[in-house]
Amino acid sequence: MSDAPDLDALEETARAALAAAGDAAAVEDWRVGWLGRKGRLTGVLRGVRELPAERRPAVGAGANRLKLALQEAHGERLAALREARADEGAAIDVTLPGRQPPQGTLHPITITRRMMERTFRDMGFDVVEGPDVELETYNFDRLRIPADHPAREMWDTIWIADEDAGPRKLLRTHTSPMQIRYLERREPPIRVIVPGTCYRYEAVDATHEWMLSQFEGLVIDEGLSFAHLKGTLESFVQRLFGSEIETRFRCDYFPFVEPGAELAIRWQGDWLEVLGCGMVHREIIEQAGLDSRRYTGFAFGIGVERVAMLRYGVTDIRAFYANDLRFLERFRGSDGSA
Ligand code: DAH
Repeated sequence: MSDAPDLDALEETARAALAAAGDAAAVEDWRVGWLGRKGRLTGVLRGVRELPAERRPAVGAGANRLKLALQEAHGERLAALREARADEGAAIDVTLPGRQPPQGTLHPITITRRMMERTFRDMGFDVVEGPDVELETYNFDRLRIPADHPAREMWDTIWIADEDAGPRKLLRTHTSPMQIRYLERREPPIRVIVPGTCYRYEAVDATHEWMLSQFEGLVIDEGLSFAHLKGTLESFVQRLFGSEIETRFRCDYFPFVEPGAELAIRWQGDWLEVLGCGMVHREIIEQAGLDSRRYTGFAFGIGVERVAMLRYGVTDIRAFYANDLRFLERFRGSDGSA
């Protein structure tokens, strides 16, 4: 065998292939293909042995020179690729100051909830929470609202569809069920608030949302009267809206209190209702196993959205849950400190 190989043609092919190798992996493939143990040029060098003796020195020397030339070309190609990568890197200016990603703010209802909670804590109340999915009996029956009672219509209810016919469940329509749950577990003296979300099957408009936040309050002890209720709630709204705020109590009806009342505040010339309240009904105290001649108390329920609307001058309750960032940005920097 053994025609002498055309080293010039080989070199041209090898250099063209190397120039086409666009990244380090392709360059490595090229090196293995040409200069590796089974590479093309290595094959040529091995073949030198089989050439006629007189031709071996010239071809051998030429092939060795080509090997060195290709090794050099290989090193240069790698360096060129490395340099191109570094140029790309230069587009990142590491001396620029860091940029903070956009940060959210506390939601106005969260701010208001925290502020109300802090105010009640300052007044000596404990804070507990109850379940959002509530049993019918706690949400209604044991608050003296039986199934056939017209008062049920005060709360439009979202029922939980349940396959197995256990006790009926619903999304709580108010935080009042925690009055019963708490009385089951604790002895007087009781002074507690229950912040929580409530849900109603409600047509939404500027003053009604189907989801709302409430604070329930429950105070039970010996010898409490309506005067304690008035003093406590007046003190609360003064801490919230300033000591100059005018308040007004009026009769209202809630099945679980007797007497029941609403508290309104004077706001820009109008009376605005801010909460429902009353003396805890005697039957509820007895139901908890307590002597209603010895223990009395009061309860109240406050809508957080209503308080937030007053504090921030928001006229449409839907703004709170519309997720419009321009609205929510207005509360940046607020943390609920009164
Ligand atoms: N649970 C009532 C509601 O959602 C508010 C309420 C009224 C709570 C009077 C009370 C109360 O504790 O005494 O409309």
